[in-house]
Amino acid sequence: MSAISLLVLNGPNLSRLGKREPEVYGRRTLDDINRELAESFPAVAFDFFQSEDEGALLEKLFHAEDAGGCSGVVLNAGALTHYSIALRDAISAITIPVVEVHLSNVSAREAFRHKSVISEVCVGVISGFGANSYHLGVRALLDIALGNG
Ligand code: DQA
Repeated sequence: MSAISLLVLNGPNLSRLGKREPEVYGRRTLDDINRELAESFPAVAFDFFQSEDEGALLEKLFHAEDAGGCSGVVLNAGALTHYSIALRDAISAITIPVVEVHLSNVSAREAFRHKSVISEVCVGVISGFGANSYHLGVRALLDIALGNG
């Protein structure tokens, strides 16, 4: 059996993890988080991608869809979560399951973070567990890929 392939996609400002508001987002860098994911799930073939640019994120989703073989996407869309209809439409336009993740508990923060325009088109939402949100997202996608989800 070939390895399950998952895309871990991070949007704007997540490149700044470790330096950016550590009291909110923790002290791990995005490289730390990605390395820990690869170590925790050695059987998964990960593709890690981050961009500050909305269009690059959309293109990455379409490429994953068209190339085939990707079983799921763990997506931290950053602030795009709260307003990007383009990102929402892109998630709707692909068949790969997408899990929305956030390091912080967005429901416990400012009112403008309570609304996600992508949740409705994602298979689920994981928010508030720090770096572990990504691990929980991977576990959810593996269950879906293995038919247990
Ligand atoms: C975030 C929450 C968003 O509201 C914020 O804009 C981010 C990070 C999180 O991981 O907690 O950039 O997605």
